[in-house]
Amino acid sequence: MAVDIPRLHPDTTEAVKERADIVDVISESVVLKKRGKDFLGLCPFHDEKTPSFSVSPGKQLYYCFGCNAGGNVFNFLMDLEQRSFSEVVLDLAKRYQVQVKTLEPSQSQEFQRQLSLREQLYEIIAIANSFYEHALRQPEGEKALIYLQRDRKLSEATIQQFQLGYAPGGWDTLYRYLVEQKRYAVELVKQAGLVKERKSGDGCIDCFRDRVTIPIHDTQGRIIAFGTRTLSGEEPKYINSPETTLFDKGRTLFALDKARSEISKQDKGVVVEGYFDAIALHAVGIENAVASLGTAFSQDQLKQILRYTESKQVILNFDADQAGTKATQRAIREIETLVYSGQVQLRVLNLPGGKDADEYLQSSPDAIEKYRQQLLEAPLWLDWQINQVFQDRDLKDGAQLQQVARILVQLISKIEDHDLRTHYINLCAERLSQGDSRRTPMYAQSIVSQLRKVKLPSSQHRKTDSLDLPLNAEQNLLEQAESLLLRIYIHCPEYRQEILTAFEEKDLIFTISHYRFFWRETLQLEARVSPDQLLSRLQDLSFDYPEEMSKLMHLFHLDEKTIYDIIREPLVIRGAIASLEKVILEKNKHFFSQALEKTDHNLEPERYHHYALELIEIQQRLKKIAEQRCASLIDVVGFSLG
Ligand code: UTP
Ligand code: MN
Repeated sequence: MAVDIPRLHPDTTEAVKERADIVDVISESVVLKKRGKDFLGLCPFHDEKTPSFSVSPGKQLYYCFGCNAGGNVFNFLMDLEQRSFSEVVLDLAKRYQVQVKTLEPSQSQEFQRQLSLREQLYEIIAIANSFYEHALRQPEGEKALIYLQRDRKLSEATIQQFQLGYAPGGWDTLYRYLVEQKRYAVELVKQAGLVKERKSGDGCIDCFRDRVTIPIHDTQGRIIAFGTRTLSGEEPKYINSPETTLFDKGRTLFALDKARSEISKQDKGVVVEGYFDAIALHAVGIENAVASLGTAFSQDQLKQILRYTESKQVILNFDADQAGTKATQRAIREIETLVYSGQVQLRVLNLPGGKDADEYLQSSPDAIEKYRQQLLEAPLWLDWQINQVFQDRDLKDGAQLQQVARILVQLISKIEDHDLRTHYINLCAERLSQGDSRRTPMYAQSIVSQLRKVKLPSSQHRKTDSLDLPLNAEQNLLEQAESLLLRIYIHCPEYRQEILTAFEEKDLIFTISHYRFFWRETLQLEARVSPDQLLSRLQDLSFDYPEEMSKLMHLFHLDEKTIYDIIREPLVIRGAIASLEKVILEKNKHFFSQALEKTDHNLEPERYHHYALELIEIQQRLKKIAEQRCASLIDVVGFSLG
């Protein structure tokens, strides 16, 4: 149906601009996180792993501090999809249902027709759904109703809430209803994915026959497709609508329309495999659940959920049997880039006994509470993966031990965040040493040296990752300690005093220039604004100091590891401060011992004495730090740097 793009009337452009929301449009392709009054995400126009792409709903503009891309909603789509201005405007007009006016009136009609195609498809599908719902209450639908009530234990309210229905048996019941009775064009009913051409070529048959129907809605609550389940044990168990103009499987999640407000409320979404798992969860009040559609869980689907959770928490609750574990692993692989770069805090829930959510909820009277509890305790995906590796393996067997270590190294090698990597190196080393903690350092060393041999991912993925440059260990230690302290400082007001005190008492400074800049600005701002405003005001610095701030954007972003660290803050703060102190002391030690060497004791006894005292004090402080080996950060970082 390709038509030459006409010249659009300026009214249309204006109307589209007014109607289309930039955050809405951009969040279709970029995971955005609310930061103050703006949104922040990874720039789609250049490779980066800390977000510097910001979108302002107030100004309806976007800007990337990393690559300087910027503009309005039209520029965004034109650049991203390499399309012309008119194409983009037209597309948005369709999406936001804006009347299209062209400079030549005759062409307007054609576009109006395209627009109304979608409208007609929505209408036909809605009518089909009423037909199915009605059929469920007729004698022919009785067995379906009994199935829903008795086998699936669904209440009347749930059946109605999810608008479940029955597609009658026979070949063409729906076809005759829609085409012969309601007079819809066959072509449209086909395009809606409800009927298909007979193989013999004479006429059409219904796509769904003698099945329970489960309507699938878009986020605005319009029905766009159906999932259907057999009642007779016929294969396949589920038949879903084909892809249509309205139904894009890879971007749709079942029940998201009903779950989205609860996902934002709880700041967390649950993904299950089956329609009935999602329905069962909603029925017991766990309303932040959605279901993937039998296809592999995709990045695009994940992004749909992420639009509603600010801290990007998602729990995958797929079946725990062998097939389910594979499905979970496949799902993780699909969304790996977002997961490894910390764009989503993914957890994995496997229910005991290999049950799916629906079966589990039916299994005991207190299952609902237990399910809620399990959601809270679900391990982070990487811990889950590591558990999988250790499962059913005998570490006493040398070959198996080696195999486990090899898989672990593969897993760890993809972690980009240095702190997070270090954490998992240590964790795996601990597990490999099976309770004999004397062996842990050896395993950690060995993982580190194997990691060096792992082929690095493509250079484009990694080009900004300073960790892979031949690095200066001291610089790296400082970078980590300083960024961690700043992160904790800006995100956790309750720890500010402790950090301030340590800085004063120990005469510490930030050694990295952009951190020093940030620290100075932070202290100045803090004197002027309330503690909970600090974060958002700091972000506003981007407008005045885009260059400096481009190096600091990662501080605003909390990834899994940082959140983990923040949970055990006191220890981490002490560790980071100790690291900082250690590096500074080592520098001073170097300085004073050189000075001491150059000073003649007989000629300048006082100066000599002063240097010597300084050195002694430095030695003592260094010794004390070494004693507080609880400063795990130093040890661990020491290891991973080899
Ligand atoms: P499962 O086969 O795991 O079953 O399908 P289930 O959801 O537990 O099914 P019940 O409880 O027996 O009804 C999980 C999901 O995979 C998709 C459907 O979306 C289903 O909900 N699926 C499954 C299909 O699309 N086609 C199939 O043939 C089977
Ligand atoms: Mn099931």
